[in-house]
Amino acid sequence: MCGIVGVLGNHQVAPILVEALKRLEYRGYDSAGIATVNAGHLERRRAVGKLVNLSDRLVEEPLSGKAGIGHTRWATHGAPTTLNAHPHKAGPVAVVHNGIVENFKELRTELNALGLTHETDTDTETVALLTQYYMSQGHSPQEAAQKTIARLEGAFALAFLFQGEDDLMIAARKGSPLAIGHGDGEAYVGSDAIALAPLTDKITYLEEGDFAVITRSSIEIYDENGTLANREMRTIAIDAARVDKGGYKHFMAKEIAEQPSVLKNTLSHYQNADASEVELPDHNIDLAHIDRLTMVACGTAFYAALTAKYWFEKIARVPVDVDVASEFRYREPPVSPGTCALFVSQSGETADTLAALRYMASQNATILSVVNVPESSIARESDLVLPLHAGVEIGVASTKAFTAQLAVLALLAIKIAYARGAIDAAQYRTHIAELNRLPGLISQALGIDGAVQDIAKKLATAQDIIFLGRGALYPLAMEGALKLKEISYIHAEGYPSGELKHGPIALIDKSVPVVVMAPMDPLFDKSVSNMQEVMARSGQVLLISCKQGLKTAAEGTWAQITMPTTPDLLAPIIYAIPAQLLAYHTALAKGTDADQPRNLAKSVTVE
Ligand code: F6R
Repeated sequence: MCGIVGVLGNHQVAPILVEALKRLEYRGYDSAGIATVNAGHLERRRAVGKLVNLSDRLVEEPLSGKAGIGHTRWATHGAPTTLNAHPHKAGPVAVVHNGIVENFKELRTELNALGLTHETDTDTETVALLTQYYMSQGHSPQEAAQKTIARLEGAFALAFLFQGEDDLMIAARKGSPLAIGHGDGEAYVGSDAIALAPLTDKITYLEEGDFAVITRSSIEIYDENGTLANREMRTIAIDAARVDKGGYKHFMAKEIAEQPSVLKNTLSHYQNADASEVELPDHNIDLAHIDRLTMVACGTAFYAALTAKYWFEKIARVPVDVDVASEFRYREPPVSPGTCALFVSQSGETADTLAALRYMASQNATILSVVNVPESSIARESDLVLPLHAGVEIGVASTKAFTAQLAVLALLAIKIAYARGAIDAAQYRTHIAELNRLPGLISQALGIDGAVQDIAKKLATAQDIIFLGRGALYPLAMEGALKLKEISYIHAEGYPSGELKHGPIALIDKSVPVVVMAPMDPLFDKSVSNMQEVMARSGQVLLISCKQGLKTAAEGTWAQITMPTTPDLLAPIIYAIPAQLLAYHTALAKGTDADQPRNLAKSVTVE
């Protein structure tokens, strides 16, 4: 959600900034811009739309200088126009911002009264104007930025550049992540380490409330009390080469295809050499006495949590509450002593999930998290972090992180089940062996790609699509609908099959494709009955099941997808593949942008 980059370098910085923004474009792509200081002169270029428009603009009107900041925007305040694009500039100050300044209207009124007028609709311009004002009162750039930041309410990651200062960048963090990169006589800032990967692997993450004064030769970080702070510098293992499409048309296609190797890697981190034990990172949580679990997440991660509820309850016999973070955080649920809270997040930075975590931490709950970015805020604020080891996920629609989340949650469920005595040693080992079949079964499932392409051509003409599933496949029905709507813009809903007759069945006619996910599990017959109810009303059913399931029930359906036969535990993970491929190929058939769907951004750091 809005990408920020800043470079104090020894070479022309504009192409370096654009290259870094390319790696951040997944965070927002409404508009982009850069500003540089060249022999003291501060200038900027901005363009609406994707980054290529900014590149074109820079060809027409190049920007020189070895110090610069850049931004790729996901609009919050103000439409995506060139005028509203960052960097925002006021006199000698340029600013890039990720987050929301909640009190910008009050500040704007105050500044207007001082004769400082706004040109844009953004909250960020207020930050530039306020800094300009403090500088006009005789404050140094550092003091002016510090005074400005003290006035801001809300969430922000900020980077400032100043006229006349070729060797100064100010950065600040409150609520939105920001990393500082250390180079050889160079210094960088970035929303995440991915942006800086080709430049450096030496990163310092700013903590909440930190303020950094950066030059090429020194980085001073002050904490929220203004005291000089000592923040750890880490060496980050980000393989720069992996952040490319690897020959695929889209990151999403690559990330779908790499799931067998991703899951193999994930599973290998969570078991001992002879695959007889699930091994978790060091912790001091008494797994045998987890009596209740509260799970919180957003979007796709929420559906992973909802799926895991079936495993925790059925296999481990632990009651689970699951909620979306934006609701949970304001409900102030009562928390009984000994409660464990489990947060699921690919980015580890989702503002609502982080706020929910902080609420639970304030209530003395034990905090567990399942995240893909091990240096993220959610990871750093957890008592036990279970990393996905899925590699960087760039496609805005989450795919490999979802299946990796499910794998880690399944491992945790069986670990807790065994610790609590809910399953015996033989069942425990059987489940581990089942999970180790995941890479092979997912490879097999990916073989449906050709069949899905044909089906997607028809789905692409639909106005509405319904996904149905029962049991642990119900959350997957919602995930399938979410994936489809976010990248193909077709309206889709996921329902529990048994709930259809309580209302949504009124939507069924021959124009509405209904995707039924029905592995041959104990609920198969029930799913088939629900499917018959749809077909009796002229519904066009796409049945996704194994060979045996299709043999039993495919008669009268419009289309079929043949899945491998799977153990019940793995079904929601394996059936994620058709959900992802249906969305992807429907988006291709419609000609929408699967990697950068409209209005969306990855890593939602505003609430
Ligand atoms: C959908 C998708 C989103 C995210 C959600 C939470 O494909 O990716 O729904 O799952 O924004 O993000 P994280 O997992 O980073 O907390």
